[in-house]
Amino acid sequence: MIKLSGVSKSYDVGGEKFFALDNIYLEINDGEFASIVGPSGSGKSTLMHLVGLLDQPTGGDILVDGKNIAHLSDVSLSKLRNEYVGFVFQQFNLINKLTVRENILLPAIYSRKKLDYIPDERARSLLLRFGLQDRIDSYPNKISGGQQQRVAIARALIMKPKLILADEPTGNLDTKTGEEIIKLLQELNREENITVVIVTHDPSIAAKTKRKIKIQDGKITNN
Ligand SMILES: Nc1ncnc2c1ncn2[C@@H]1O[C@H](COP(=O)(O)OP(=O)(O)OP(=O)(O)O)[C@@H](O)[C@H]1O
Ligand SMILES: [Mg+2]
Repeated sequence: MIKLSGVSKSYDVGGEKFFALDNIYLEINDGEFASIVGPSGSGKSTLMHLVGLLDQPTGGDILVDGKNIAHLSDVSLSKLRNEYVGFVFQQFNLINKLTVRENILLPAIYSRKKLDYIPDERARSLLLRFGLQDRIDSYPNKISGGQQQRVAIARALIMKPKLILADEPTGNLDTKTGEEIIKLLQELNREENITVVIVTHDPSIAAKTKRKIKIQDGKITNN
């Protein structure tokens, strides 16, 4: 479970403080399927970066399973992030010089955790599950957008995270392919109890999530 308590994120802009997030209280429980919605510039990505432990707040506390992350060293924080969260982005963020298999294995290569499974076997079974087994040695720029996003989801899953954070995961896909990606995230949530949080502009995608966290001008207006 992730808890934000009075969390702010401010930037100095021309000598003045600008609050991208302002005094946020939010709990995301294990197994939730939620969306973060709001206008451009409202703070959605900033919120996602904080929930995903990619960034630290300038005020307030973030607790992961009751532990205040402010008390963690940089090494412990990146270890926690690597094991706890999988990220999916609008631009897929795959490395074009690496094959599909190598992209999926990257988080496991960077990990310091002793795993009780063989990452390569998990990569293969994820690709099989996503119908991409014959693309394992392809390069990302040789496969379709929908296939790239599936590979990115497999990469997000390689460490068996509790939480998947997806920032506009369908933004670069046509409607039908986007719906398939959301369906896949729904399945992972339902079948494996992975918490899924999707940032989206698209009301039809938000409508598919059980919880809508609405944000405006850095404040949560509804959740
Ligand atoms: N490094 C920074 N310095 C100053 N301001 C920033 C910085 N990063 C973000 N902001 C500002 O914080 C606000 C929130 O940005 P954020 O990227 O979270 O919005 P968003 O809701 O994700 O928007 P979009 O829908 O366009 O992706 C914006 O006004 C943005 O300009
Ligand atoms: Mg954004």
